[in-house]
Amino acid sequence: MKIDALSLFPAMFDSVMNASMMWKAQDRGLLTFCAHDIRDYAADKHRQVDDTPYGGGGGMILKPDVLVRAIEAVRPSTATPVILLSPQGRLLTHPVAAELAQLPQLVLVCGHYEGVDERVRQLAVTDEISIGDYVLTGGELAALVLIDAVVRLIPGVLGAEGAADRDSHADGLLEGAHYTRPHTYRGLAVPAILTSGHHAEVARWRRRQALLRTWLRRPELLKSAPLTEDDREWLEALAGRQLPTVASSPDP
Ligand code: ADE
Repeated sequence: MKIDALSLFPAMFDSVMNASMMWKAQDRGLLTFCAHDIRDYAADKHRQVDDTPYGGGGGMILKPDVLVRAIEAVRPSTATPVILLSPQGRLLTHPVAAELAQLPQLVLVCGHYEGVDERVRQLAVTDEISIGDYVLTGGELAALVLIDAVVRLIPGVLGAEGAADRDSHADGLLEGAHYTRPHTYRGLAVPAILTSGHHAEVARWRRRQALLRTWLRRPELLKSAPLTEDDREWLEALAGRQLPTVASSPDP
């Protein structure tokens, strides 16, 4: 996959893109990433990229001529999606990340200040994505969140085959509890089932932990998650039980 990000602060991408999985994805040749400085596409001698809004009001607006020129310079063809990061976009969810992970190339546009001139949306943006219902200072952090969520789904990026399949949200549920050594820490022992050696029982316990956690924390997800008959029976049994709070989710 190739990702081009357009930003007024391209250095913001450096630390994240040069560490951990995002670096490995590039090192393995699975991702080519480039952060471009929007200011390089300004035409005047002051390299002006923004201006005051028509009609008054505060803040600065990114100029359409500069931003459209930048987008057209990095977009290889009109088939390549151009995604504007903005709090007004569709929400980034696992299905959206999985959809984007299928594509060969993305252009990400990071706004700053009050926003971008509306004609940029009309002329050059094909999609608009938000990472949540809050407002960031600029689109860079949102673009990094999107890149991480998408790139880890590209086959070969995560070491263990299928690791992304087990993530929270990948199957419509939150992941259950995980444990590692030591066996007992500050009086809290690992659930006995995990040391039993019964693989089928462990798998069933994990599934039920995922169902339990989803039921406690994000019950609305259960409406659209693909559930088996066994899952449904377990959830019905849970519904009839007195359950502790999220903070001390039990070992059912
Ligand atoms: N830019 C500013 N706020 C944002 C958000 N919530 N999501 C995506 N881009 C943004």
